[in-house]
Amino acid sequence: MLTANEIRSRFLDFFRSKGHEIVPSAPIVVKNDPTLLFTNAGMNQFKDYFLGNGEPVSTRIADTQKCLRVSGKHNDLEEVGVDTYHHTMFEMLGNWSFGDYFKKEAIEWCWELLTEVFKIPEDILYVTIFQGDAAEGLEKDEEAYTYWKQFVAEDRILMGNKKDNFWEMGDMGPCGPCSEVHVDCRTPEERRQVSGATLVNADHPQVIEIWNNVFMQFNRLKDGSLEPLPAKHVDTGMGLERLVRVLQGKQSNYDTDLFTGTIAAISDFTAVKNNKRIIYKHSDSKQDVAFRVISDHIRAIAFTIADGQLPSNTGAGYVIRRILRRAVRYYYSYLNINEPLLHWLLPTLASQFEGVFPELKKQIDLVSRVVKEEEEAFLRTLHSGIKRFKAYTSTLVDFSSGSFLQDPQMDDEQMRNDRQNFSLETHQKRISGLVAFELNDTYGFPIDLTELMAREIGWSVDMEGFQVELQKQKVRSRAATALSTDDWVVLKETTPTNFVGYDSLEAEAS
Ligand code: SER
Repeated sequence: MLTANEIRSRFLDFFRSKGHEIVPSAPIVVKNDPTLLFTNAGMNQFKDYFLGNGEPVSTRIADTQKCLRVSGKHNDLEEVGVDTYHHTMFEMLGNWSFGDYFKKEAIEWCWELLTEVFKIPEDILYVTIFQGDAAEGLEKDEEAYTYWKQFVAEDRILMGNKKDNFWEMGDMGPCGPCSEVHVDCRTPEERRQVSGATLVNADHPQVIEIWNNVFMQFNRLKDGSLEPLPAKHVDTGMGLERLVRVLQGKQSNYDTDLFTGTIAAISDFTAVKNNKRIIYKHSDSKQDVAFRVISDHIRAIAFTIADGQLPSNTGAGYVIRRILRRAVRYYYSYLNINEPLLHWLLPTLASQFEGVFPELKKQIDLVSRVVKEEEEAFLRTLHSGIKRFKAYTSTLVDFSSGSFLQDPQMDDEQMRNDRQNFSLETHQKRISGLVAFELNDTYGFPIDLTELMAREIGWSVDMEGFQVELQKQKVRSRAATALSTDDWVVLKETTPTNFVGYDSLEAEAS
């Protein structure tokens, strides 16, 4: 059986043999693109080449790119750990043509690599093509259809709509029709009973997309219109975690050697700290979801910090903090661990990725210190926050009579507010904005953590109310800043800083 490291190398070797230059992954944290916080696709670092604003080192490039899909247009966070094939951080293997080859070669090589190099049986593969979109004035991708027909039976070439088969990086930027490859990993018996064609793009855990071939032809402008690009390009992305799972014959990405080391380390931690080893059992239990969430999230946390993004209260830093707190809450609630675990997993991860992303090993001390401090800080308030959450959800409403109960931890104004908004139907299973805000402000619960905990018990969160409270707090703190001098005061908002050093040695600035 090929290891994940071997599979990654074979991908890169294959495209090297087709004249591609292999380049390193760009940092996972995006510093120079206001439309993105994190790299969410392999093509991000090449955006300028698609738009005709820069020259690549070669017209053919391949790499493995660290990606994070937890914010903006591509956001998989809800699925992570609950299912077995979505991740926060994942590696995207990709090959690119910048105005060089187009659909013909991209499709030929895609098929050659999957079926001849990796030897995936053809009868478990399906491909999709863009069916066109009248509203956008876009036609069916006949060209891709014609090339696929050379290799794939027509009943395995499926039509896809704009949502699945027209790829866009964000609300603006390069985009185009795409062809995906899906693998049906069900048993032969299951495949005989139900055709895999009906399960493509239907959230079936065993019928999954592994590779997306995008044919970049347009630029989406701010006003929503599409403008043809100066040249045509290829942008492909294959999820390494899914490919490894298929090639290692596993039912779940977490059963591949990309995750088993970390999962074993989590299990070791339970044995060392609690004197009772908890073992991962590959099930849907909350305990197993916790193993998956933690082994997924630690990768996102470790690599973003190693790439220079510290957890914080705003922007990209807050995304990291949210992911970290989500992981802490999972080990605290479902693995019965109440001391920092995440930092303990870092050496395992650093060794595993040393050959491909050496930056983690190089900075292991810094990353460990940051992660441990973050864990400790959240663990200090998590226990009281959970108590508060439970008190609220169990004592707010007397379900038998429908009457409103006094919550001992709420002050009078909070109670008055909640009573005014109260109606049994809507409020019965809804966390008020005020309480969601309190959990956030006092106990450090990111709002999506409160939403997650609410969902687990069949409740929802009054998000509008939460936003109102958040806004009120902003006004309060603005007023406070105006009165007192803190250690950091913004005196004047600046315009963005432009680097002008290529053309001049002096410039005026404030
Ligand atoms: N940009 C495409 C994707 O992210 C292919 O690389 O799916």
